[in-house]
Amino acid sequence: ALITLRQLLDHAAEHGYGVPAFNINNMEQGLAIMKAAEKCDAPVIMQASRGARSYAGDIMLRHMIQALSEMFPKIPLCMHQDHGNNEATCLSAIKHGFTSVMMDGSLKEDMKTPADWDYNVAITKAVADMAHWVGASVEGELGVLGNLETGEAAKEDGSGAEGKLSKEQLLTDPDEAAEFVKLTKVDALAIACGTSHGAYKFSQKPTGETLAISQIEKIHAKIPNVHLVMHGSSSVPQYLQDLINESGGEMPQTYGVPVEEIERGIKSGVRKVNIDTDNRMALTGQFRKVAKDKPTEFDPRKFMIPAMEEMTKLCLDRFERFGTAGNA
Ligand code: G3H
Ligand code: 13P
Ligand code: ZN
Repeated sequence: ALITLRQLLDHAAEHGYGVPAFNINNMEQGLAIMKAAEKCDAPVIMQASRGARSYAGDIMLRHMIQALSEMFPKIPLCMHQDHGNNEATCLSAIKHGFTSVMMDGSLKEDMKTPADWDYNVAITKAVADMAHWVGASVEGELGVLGNLETGEAAKEDGSGAEGKLSKEQLLTDPDEAAEFVKLTKVDALAIACGTSHGAYKFSQKPTGETLAISQIEKIHAKIPNVHLVMHGSSSVPQYLQDLINESGGEMPQTYGVPVEEIERGIKSGVRKVNIDTDNRMALTGQFRKVAKDKPTEFDPRKFMIPAMEEMTKLCLDRFERFGTAGNA
């Protein structure tokens, strides 16, 4: 059944677990996630970016979500807009059956220029008011995602801010977080703690200097009842880098967010954990492997089936480690 983000995260907070929010663009990703959820009895957050909506089409996504919830009737399913950039994106998502939207006012509409406090509060509050009238949930964001050492967003494949960012922008301030939630009435708050989108987050295994889980702890101490969201939470596992590179890929060595750091975040109020890159790598790794091992193969299903299995395995691992398993 379809549920809202608020319903799901309230349950997660009460029982002390986190919920991965997996991005989807197509049927195979939807099926892979639901199969993992069914295996371990986990509730699901699926999210579509603006790019996903234009790739698959709103009507396709709407019916796909409907189909997935019919096929897996026991799994609670929240359908969420990832990184909405204005009121129109958020409201049109709700019209197309999304039960939750992110209004990302940490960046201006172009999703590149860091926005100021007044802009972020005004646009997030406007979306929260409207969404709440029709029973949808809203996630806001305070702070800009990016690398704490270089002050830059991830270099390749990661959408995000342009230009150098200051440490103040890159780490969400606990007092401001409290004020922001009070003014906007968002159901969940995305915070910045050194993660960034895409595969190239850290040039070595992150330390307390580059990945500030301690900042999440400070925010949680200030606003213990607010559901926190961690973006850029792919772990970019070595086995998937190896799978891709052993099959003809050329991804430079990189480091993501270790799962144990996410587990630490969940102990401090992180309830929604955004993951896209890891699943992209799981799929692409198997596409490449099939292409390399079976050069005569041309039935796309022979590529898709192992790819879906690799993605299901990754999703299942996150459901189990975040404590989502058993809570459907
Ligand atoms: O926020 C970034 C997500 O990974 C979605 O990426 O805009 O390429 O669909 P996308
Ligand atoms: P990753 O690129 O780390 O998977 O982050 C995804 C994300 O934050 C989507 O909003
Ligand atoms: Zn994100």
